[in-house]
Amino acid sequence: MFDLLIRGGTCVTPSGRAQVDVGLSDGRIAAVGALSVADAREVFDASGLHVLPGVVDPQCHFREPGMTHKEDLGSGSASAALGGVTTFFEMPNTQPNTDSPEQLAWKVARARETAWVDFGFFLGATNENADALGEWETLEGCAGIKMFCGSSTGTLLVDKPEHQRRVLSSGRRRVACHSEDEARLKARKGLFAGRGVGFHPEWRDEDCAVLSTRSLMQLSRETGRRLHVLHVTTAGELPLLAENKALVTFEVCPQHLTLTAPDCYERLGTLAQMNPPIRDARHQAALWDAVRSGLVDVLGSDHAPHTLEEKAKEWPASPSGMPGVQTLLPLMLNHVHEGRLTLERLVDLTSAGPARVFGMLGKGRLAPGYDGDLTLVDLAAKKTITHDWSKSKCGWTPFDGLPVTGWPVATVVRGRFVMRDGALVGRPSAQPVRFAR
Ligand code: DOR
Repeated sequence: MFDLLIRGGTCVTPSGRAQVDVGLSDGRIAAVGALSVADAREVFDASGLHVLPGVVDPQCHFREPGMTHKEDLGSGSASAALGGVTTFFEMPNTQPNTDSPEQLAWKVARARETAWVDFGFFLGATNENADALGEWETLEGCAGIKMFCGSSTGTLLVDKPEHQRRVLSSGRRRVACHSEDEARLKARKGLFAGRGVGFHPEWRDEDCAVLSTRSLMQLSRETGRRLHVLHVTTAGELPLLAENKALVTFEVCPQHLTLTAPDCYERLGTLAQMNPPIRDARHQAALWDAVRSGLVDVLGSDHAPHTLEEKAKEWPASPSGMPGVQTLLPLMLNHVHEGRLTLERLVDLTSAGPARVFGMLGKGRLAPGYDGDLTLVDLAAKKTITHDWSKSKCGWTPFDGLPVTGWPVATVVRGRFVMRDGALVGRPSAQPVRFAR
């Protein structure tokens, strides 16, 4: 007797696509196979649908505490559930910063009460807490350490190699890095004042990313510490990342695979402004090659909402970032439909990849014994992404009006539906992800 039986769908299992049923009990996957005669408290007919292991978004900014006019853990995780995401990791540049055990515990407690899908939180590295991070990185709900090597939204910054080395020397888990060179950012900011958001990728240029990533690779080799480079955007970083594959993993964002400069800045103005920036077609083609070759480890949305009023400031005073947790999967399913990657490769990037990179326990695989986290999608559904559909508190999406083929129709977290047919169901009852130490 299962609690829930997902019957008749096409499952993406570790062995590939299979026409099998999934039986869930006590929050976990109990059986995968021909279960049509099995008994269950609830049966879901998944005929015509694909059943994926739950989608993990390992880079979100949900703004709580301190900026809850843009988002909070409840609204951000609801947006995640509506987009087919079963687990999120959240970033430490809140107000106050998540840079101590107390701040981390506050977020974990708040997410237990208000989040719709399972979660982990990054602890922010600072010059002050660098030596304590090794002790803190194994606290409950901690997804790892995040180090801003170049400044972005907020005040977190560890830009000097001597302090970066301290961060890498304290602890054992993979350190997630925002890789832009702070000295170059500072030196060049004034060059473009008054010239408009189209110059965002000129200011924060390829050299800015390459300089920082090259230096991080060196530090990783010196210290033997594993790193994860967030939102990689340039062709120039890819050979460096490939050379250091034993120690270093990395992420790309759907935005960088979908939007292209200069068109995005002409169409969207500062709504297209994020760090690192959306770049031209040459960089985008290199990122796609890296997706297809297997070099890229994970996709992350870098969901970073700001209100339209905030975004209306004149560049460069306008804040960087755009929402994305709800559009990650629809955009990528559309790329699958258009033949840019296979569904299996997408699952590798959104489930198996995050589990491997961050050492998640019991997640990332549609197989017996794993958590009952499933994302059900209709690969043939034709829909249009709209501001109205996007449930982030910021109230907009850069993809408004984009027609896509492929859509999430249900989200299951530890055996319970949290989204069905585009609506939230049940209530928030999320748990912190467990990690290997
Ligand atoms: O564009 C960005 N926005 N990049 C970041 O690194 C931070 C984020 C934010 O928090 O707004």
